[in-house]
This record gives sequence, C-alpha cells and structure tokens, in this order.
Amino acid sequence: AEIVVVPDQKQAGELAAQSIVDLIASRPDAVLGLATGSTPLALYRALTARVAETGIDVAHVRGFALDEYVGLPADHPESYRSVITREVVEPLGLTPSLIHVPNGAIDGIEHAGPDYERAIAEAGGVDVQILGIGTDGHIGFNEPGSSFASATRVKTLTEQTRRDNARFFPSEADVPMHCITQGLGTILRAKHLLLLAFGEGKAEAVAGAVEGPVSASNPGSAIQLHPHVTVIVDEAAASRLQ
Ligand code: F6R
Repeated sequence: AEIVVVPDQKQAGELAAQSIVDLIASRPDAVLGLATGSTPLALYRALTARVAETGIDVAHVRGFALDEYVGLPADHPESYRSVITREVVEPLGLTPSLIHVPNGAIDGIEHAGPDYERAIAEAGGVDVQILGIGTDGHIGFNEPGSSFASATRVKTLTEQTRRDNARFFPSEADVPMHCITQGLGTILRAKHLLLLAFGEGKAEAVAGAVEGPVSASNPGSAIQLHPHVTVIVDEAAASRLQ
C-alpha cells in the first residue's frame, strides 16, 4: 500500500478529494464506494468545495454505501441512508437515484445482500472505495472473524463498535444490534481502496491493517491482498507503524 502521513484531517480530506475529482474528470459516471462515520467527513467537505470551485459535472456520478443499520426506519437521522443524503448527496449535488445504500428494512432483509451485490456488479464495480477503520480493525462492518470472501450480508455489531457509535444515539442501548454490510470480498473487488484514519485511537488498527498478519481475526488486514491501496493518516494514527 501507499502510506501518506499528513499533518491533519483537513489536508487528508483535500488530498483524497483531489484524487476523486481527477477520477470524475476522467470518468463522469464514476462509481464511488461511500463510507459513513466521522472519518470521511473532512473528505466529503473538501470534495464539496472542489466540486463547487471546479464546476465539474457530478450529475452522473454513482455511489454505493458500505453499510447500513438493520431495523432503523430509513428516515431515522442516523440511518446511513440519511447520513449519506445529508453529508454527501445534498452538499455535492449528486443525483439521488444513482446513490445506493443497502436496504436495512427487516422485511425482506434476506434479499437485501444479494440485491446489493447485483446492483454493484451491474454498475461495473466500484472505482474507488473510501474506507474508515474501526478501533477493533473492522472495515465496513466486517467485524473480526469475517471471511475474506464475504459478500454483502447481515452481521451482528460487536459491543466495542456499539460503544464507539453510541455518540450518534441517545444511549448505547439505542445503537442497533445488527447491520448489513458489504463483505470483505465485495470491498476487495473495488478497483482502488482509499483508507483514511485519524487519531491515536486508530493507531493499533492501522498498524494491524497495514503490517499485521493477514488474518480474518483482523479484517483490515484484507487490504494487504489488494494491489491498489492508498492509506492516508495523520501522525497519531501512523504512530504504531514500523
Ligand atoms: C462506516 C464504516 C465503518 C467506519 C468505522 C470508523 O461506513 O463502515 O467501518 O468507517 O467504524 O468509524 P469512524 O470514522 O466514525 O471512526
């Protein structure tokens, strides 16, 4: 992987945004893999600014979110559908019908994974997959133990992840127990992986992903199997790298 250490999140966001603007310039219907959570917010902000400055046409850009909670109403403010709409689709002016999020509705959940895989395949695959990483090493919501061949499916969130994400909900008890997430196999099929991580809390997960043994107990280490990976981190997140 190419590891880029930058002074702060703002510069990380600008660097990542530039590579995405370049992609869209060469491919106006580029397929973006969209992460949620705190990590990509600087990138989405920088991308919004770059799109406004350059006036690049993003009407044909397509997108696939990494994951969604199971059982939250789609219009819940913390559903990833709502987050992607609020943080990405609306500020950038993307075409809503071209931006997909796994369907976390309990009714029909058994079809949601295969349907999502089919939609990604029909789009020709993801050009650049934006990734954050969990403190327990997850990418998407592929918690430790996930198969490297996994496809989009329902998973149970670990206690650590529910604790980490409690900041978005009234209490930890309100964080859903289950999610639907692109699998590690799905993520590995993207043409380019762009992993971002910031802060001391991510240092161990970053070292494990980049340098640790390639193992299902460390899902982030799946990136070592991919030929085109860019990791953009601040000094704190890079602090455990050899
Ligand atoms: C989000 C996702 C997760 C997050 C990870 C880090 O779609 O799939 O893997 O990237 O939990 O979350 P933050 O960025 O909030 O620290």
